[in-house]
Amino acid sequence: MSITIQIAYLVASILFVLGIKMMNKTKSARQGNRLSALGMLIAIIATLLQIQVISMVEIFGCIVLGSAIGLYYANKVEMTKMPEMVAIFNGFGGLASFTVALSDYFLRTTVQMESIELVTVISIIVSVFIGGLTFTGSIIAFLKLNGNISGSPITFKGQHPLNLVLFLSFLTAAVFNVMDQSDPILIIVLIVIALVLGVLTVIPIGGADMPVVISLLNSYSGMAACATGFILNNNVLIVAGSLVGASGIILTQIMCKAMNRSLINVLLGGFGQTTSGPAGDGPSITVKEVGVEETAMLFDSVSSVIVVPGYGMAVAQAQHVIRELMEQCEKRNIDFKFAIHPVAGRMPGHMNVLLAEANISYDKLIEMESINDDFQNTDLVLIVGANDVVNPAARNNPQSPIYGMPVLNADKARTVIVSKRSMGKGYAGVENELFGYPNCLMLFGDAKQTITKVVTEMKEM
Ligand code: TAP
Repeated sequence: MSITIQIAYLVASILFVLGIKMMNKTKSARQGNRLSALGMLIAIIATLLQIQVISMVEIFGCIVLGSAIGLYYANKVEMTKMPEMVAIFNGFGGLASFTVALSDYFLRTTVQMESIELVTVISIIVSVFIGGLTFTGSIIAFLKLNGNISGSPITFKGQHPLNLVLFLSFLTAAVFNVMDQSDPILIIVLIVIALVLGVLTVIPIGGADMPVVISLLNSYSGMAACATGFILNNNVLIVAGSLVGASGIILTQIMCKAMNRSLINVLLGGFGQTTSGPAGDGPSITVKEVGVEETAMLFDSVSSVIVVPGYGMAVAQAQHVIRELMEQCEKRNIDFKFAIHPVAGRMPGHMNVLLAEANISYDKLIEMESINDDFQNTDLVLIVGANDVVNPAARNNPQSPIYGMPVLNADKARTVIVSKRSMGKGYAGVENELFGYPNCLMLFGDAKQTITKVVTEMKEM
């Protein structure tokens, strides 16, 4: 590899690292994305300059086709469908590593008839395993999220022992393959097991846990790319794969911590069925209802407001009308901000993305650690379709399944209004004692519809 190509790869790797660093902050995230994209462009050009076997026409044909499909779907996809899109991307990332590893294997064993050196054959096996598992696992995650198959955990007796047997069979076949690459049956066994394990490990996981799984699969796709980098002796692929692998696993850990769950608990499945229903879950606590007019009058009389958005805001698509509410409050010189819980909603950054879509400026969105002490000095908190992330049981009740999960101290405000449709539970399926607190008022109905009415009332005041 020429020195120019190596320098180009080094520059691309530095741009990837800087890009990821800039994604730390919402303000610099777009710039970081552009920087990383520039790094990828440099890496692609440097790689194309080394191509000898395939014609440029084929390469550019594929680039144009792939880019057109990607562009079409990226423009078309709704914000709420982003997890599905990421799932598919991860799957194709895994598939790419899987097929590149296999083509290298067959090229060397059947065309060039050479035996493969140890490091390369191990890298091929790792790439086939992680890439194959990531591909089928991501497809199942996509189908679950998209509603094509049931989002409920699919479990059967002996599921985990079967996975263990398959994994051990993979290891055994891998050892034989390292020793002898002349028998194609061994690599076929590895391929089949990797693909089957992807399906079997994701089906027992509930639809609502899919964001965690997708983040983990994203990490896997990076690891598969990293292994493929070793096969092709390509430094930039090793660096990019490691970055994706490491950042994916860090994000997975952050999500698990914010949900107070262990990764093993998520992966073993059986949790995460959406237990919230629009009606029917009769309250076992006594609540006080508030009407639209009364809510508008309350807003008119306070000097500080914090809005806590949650999954229900995404369902109702209430972000635009909440911006109108903010404008009404700001006209009255009310201090108005948003409290963002790290796992509010169903995907990382879900609330930030929706509120940004409604043109609410980033500096209004305050992270949990920074805002939690402000609630006690706040006149009014409006909870919009959030439930688990404001449940005081996470602090007070050691018997609660969510005990220990960090939550927003919304209950400490002078008055709390909760906008939701019914007494339906949240993702964790537990009752929220906040709704029965003396300072809490329930504004029942679809968040978009009720808050629209509140805003109309305020405009007429
Ligand atoms: P949840 O606890 O899931 O509660 C959402 C609430 O929204 C429900 O109680 C529901 O009550 C209400 N709702 C639904 N549709 C509505 C509508 N049209 N208008 C008004 N309200 C509506 O939400 P959260 O507080 O955001 O917590 C998120 C949960 O998801 C956490 O337990 C978290 O661990 C989990 N989770 C998050 C992630 C990520 S990465 N964010 C990933 C996996 C799991 P009604 O039915 O009564 O309306």
